[in-house]
Amino acid sequence: MPLSLSLPFSPRRIVIGANAHAGIAAAIRRRRPSLEIRGAPFTDLTADDLAWADTYIGFKRPPTIASMGNVQWVHSTGAGVDGWLGPGLDESILLTRSSESFGPMIAEWAVARIFAVQQQLASLAEAQRDRRWAPRDIARVAGTRALLLGTGDIGRAIATSLSALGVHVTGVSRSGESTHPAFSTVHRIDALPDLAGNADWLVLSLPDTPATRGLVSRDVLARCRGAVLLNAGRGTVVDEAAIPEALDAGWLRAAALDVFVTEPLPTASPLWSDRRVMISPHISGLTTIDGAASGFLECVESLERGEWPRWTVDRARGY
Ligand code: GLV
Repeated sequence: MPLSLSLPFSPRRIVIGANAHAGIAAAIRRRRPSLEIRGAPFTDLTADDLAWADTYIGFKRPPTIASMGNVQWVHSTGAGVDGWLGPGLDESILLTRSSESFGPMIAEWAVARIFAVQQQLASLAEAQRDRRWAPRDIARVAGTRALLLGTGDIGRAIATSLSALGVHVTGVSRSGESTHPAFSTVHRIDALPDLAGNADWLVLSLPDTPATRGLVSRDVLARCRGAVLLNAGRGTVVDEAAIPEALDAGWLRAAALDVFVTEPLPTASPLWSDRRVMISPHISGLTTIDGAASGFLECVESLERGEWPRWTVDRARGY
């Protein structure tokens, strides 16, 4: 189905579906005062808003509205666009994604968890609560081995931080091409089962696409030898139901999870009460107001010049 907008394109009426809609609108208006903007948390938008707008900015589509109205362009404020691809966004609507660099923030998330495990922070905090003097051996982070699934912008930032700490970093990607000097080697994705047994840290920063869904299967987990799983990509990449077994069997030593198959993570999930699991509520890489506004405005400038934005999503690839 052809796109409904034609180049050059100048958006006129924008709807922002985000909690931070007022801040994003103000940041856009500072540079483009002529744009008409409406905004609300995405769950509060109405069919009338979407009938009014030609452009939508947000991370997910409004859940209760079946049609995107007169919207011709959706700009995702997130890096992952599965919230748009999953329920099926009409192919005639242009889909672009955030240009924001989430890598450095997600790298800090990963480094914090790696040190928390290695320095045994949770168990020391428990001992302190009990006024218990609990000496133990502490292992170094330097000299350990990380296997990174995802060698894009986020994977490269994680690789840079970890290699600066003396971690030996191997990558896995679709092409197997080395994309950054922080990776000592990059392998093709089919080498994953063989590589899993050598990793101390298995770090995921992959989007949810048909190619990544279920990639870290029970079989891959079973090949790990005491690795720590860190997932800041999408929950669907891992067989989440197999994580408790992987921990009990010692395939995994611990897990740090920021993303889940279902979010919020259901209260019945056994992951909540497992002391070997560190849960964070999808906060490893946060969209900023300035990042959301400038990513959008960069796309506007391309469209007005008559060019497809470099952040246009390839629907078949899923990012
Ligand atoms: C967050 O998960 C994003 O995709 O930006």
